[in-house]
Amino acid sequence: MKLKNCININDLREAAKTRAHKMVFDYIDGGADDEKTLARNSSAFDDYELLYRVLSGVNSPDLSTTLLGQKMDVPFILSPSAGNRLFHTEGEYGPAKAAEKIGTVYSLATLSSVSIEDIGTATNGPKWFQLYVWKDRGLVKEMLDRAKAAGFTAMFLTVDLPIAGNRERDLKNGFTIPPKIGPKQIWHALNAPHWTMDYLFSPAIRYANLSSASTAATLNDFVAAQLDAGFNWDDAEWLLGEWNGPTILKGVVRADDAIRAERVGFNAISISNHGGRQLDTSPAPISCLEPIREAVSDKTELIVDGGIRRGTDVLKAIAMGANAVSFARPYLYGLAAGGTEGAIKSVEIIRDAINRDMILLGAQKITDIDRSFIKSI
Ligand code: GLV
Repeated sequence: MKLKNCININDLREAAKTRAHKMVFDYIDGGADDEKTLARNSSAFDDYELLYRVLSGVNSPDLSTTLLGQKMDVPFILSPSAGNRLFHTEGEYGPAKAAEKIGTVYSLATLSSVSIEDIGTATNGPKWFQLYVWKDRGLVKEMLDRAKAAGFTAMFLTVDLPIAGNRERDLKNGFTIPPKIGPKQIWHALNAPHWTMDYLFSPAIRYANLSSASTAATLNDFVAAQLDAGFNWDDAEWLLGEWNGPTILKGVVRADDAIRAERVGFNAISISNHGGRQLDTSPAPISCLEPIREAVSDKTELIVDGGIRRGTDVLKAIAMGANAVSFARPYLYGLAAGGTEGAIKSVEIIRDAINRDMILLGAQKITDIDRSFIKSI
């Protein structure tokens, strides 16, 4: 499948599979254990149907909304994801430019392969910084200061990765960052000549925000060496004080955790299970949305991610109480299939689908999309 022939996110996935090295595609595409949560994240959207309204006179819907006071032209933002230069040499520049072009927020990962400062200067669009909590609190503070100085306006704190999930595709492929080269990797490289040529003629891939001394070979090694599994609510409160700006807690599925997040002072909650990459058999975020919406006050904004591939998925999440959605795999498939152009194509596909589906639904504005449009199966 070629990028120019792709008309939906699944096509981009096929194009990414064609172009990228197997271990790279599997790292993007895979989940934990038996990948039950990974599959369920998408299929759970089928538990709800859209009860459209007729003769509503909508022909040019307004897709814009706000999140943490930030105006956005679409009701989605780009989730953080690690090591994008491994997927395509253009790396994190691809999705950062895609977000700027479409008028939404880009969130950069702690474990990015382009630095905080380089992304800060590459895009004038709104930017958030995703944080993992490290054992070395001095390093955490330093990262936050760097993000602030580079124009990142919100802290996106990920708390569902105290240790890395059991991603068996990565284990089978011998996946590491930077890639380790053995006979299996060479065989797969021969089947992905465009990716391989780019890889061979590009600067070495590394976690760009870390000094080379603290770079570990695999996500698991890195997490074991650097991340703090003992991080708790008191530490989260300490971080809120350190950042002293808008904050989102990422990786919540329980209403009691959402209530506590609101109480300690997070402005928004990202209902997420890390794309099915962490605790397998954890529930699909869309199924956790309504209990959390009921548990927290209206001023706490909710972002849903996990399994979003179609405009209808976005509309269902909004109808059930999300302020916006986020996703990473759709733009990562686009990036792996065709660099920045592919990342842009992915967000345009979803934006155009939302536009069409709002007309079909009979909703002029994002705030018109309420629970009355949902029929639970
Ligand atoms: C990193 O956050 C990953 O999910 O691979």
